[in-house]
Amino acid sequence: MLFYLQLTEYIVLRLIRRFLFPYSLLLRIGKYIPYFRVNANQDGARDIVDEYERLIREHATGVLERPNLRILEIGAGVTDTVGLLLSERFGCHVHVCDPYVRYDEAGTRDGIQRFKISMEAQSRTQRVLEPLSAGYDLILSNSVLEHVEDPEGFFRQMKGALREGGVMIHRVDYRDHFFKYPYFFLMFSDQVWNTFLNPGDLYRWRLDDHLEAAERAGVGVRSSSEVVLEEGYERIRHRTHDRFGSYKRCNVATANLVVR
Ligand SMILES: C[S@@+](CC[C@H](N)C(=O)[O-])C[C@H]1O[C@@H](n2cnc3c(N)ncnc32)[C@H](O)[C@@H]1O
Repeated sequence: MLFYLQLTEYIVLRLIRRFLFPYSLLLRIGKYIPYFRVNANQDGARDIVDEYERLIREHATGVLERPNLRILEIGAGVTDTVGLLLSERFGCHVHVCDPYVRYDEAGTRDGIQRFKISMEAQSRTQRVLEPLSAGYDLILSNSVLEHVEDPEGFFRQMKGALREGGVMIHRVDYRDHFFKYPYFFLMFSDQVWNTFLNPGDLYRWRLDDHLEAAERAGVGVRSSSEVVLEEGYERIRHRTHDRFGSYKRCNVATANLVVR
């Protein structure tokens, strides 16, 4: 009984999100809505950079020693705050790119004040419309790959943007972004999901999809720090749609992809 009440709640809220709340509105008011998380560049930039640093030191520490180190943060969201913090922390040039959102200059200024970003770091950080070809030693993203419509094309594009010997690290969130029920979206067919429930750019990619897309794009990828939310998955394990039947790791909630 409880499950069906929760399913009803889920469907009603997903319908409201789909048909009544455009993304641009959520970017402004999301922090006041229960169970909705605003994008981390707006609210948790330092946490993202801490996690990037941890992953770089674990998987690509030599890259930090490169002369003229240049980093790309792809899918950065509306502010440059993460890029500015990266430049401050590593003393390097950073490009910030997100072709699909409107830049929030006031939000970036807030970030500069909140984190006391130096003039040097500000001058080394630049928002670009598209990545440079063979321009970066490190390419980083946070919660982007699950929103990319064509992961294979994305990996190819990023491969072209890496310098020889460069590394990409993508932090991916495979959960339903209505975080109260992190796996409920796996219960629906593509037709129902895409017609009624998909907020727009949540493609329900699973880790296997990304590993295969990377392979087709000709990049070596390995996944690390996978997290499974056992309790959340248990509730829908026997209810997942057949469409997900062949996946080996359908239950992965978050993972970091390290790509060389
Ligand atoms: C959930 S937001 C994350 C934003 C930011 N990284 C953060 O953590 O706050 C996902 C972002 O990915 C961007 N995005 C989606 N597809 C993309 C692509 N093919 N190339 C670059 N950015 C993309 C979207 O515009 C959106 O801003």
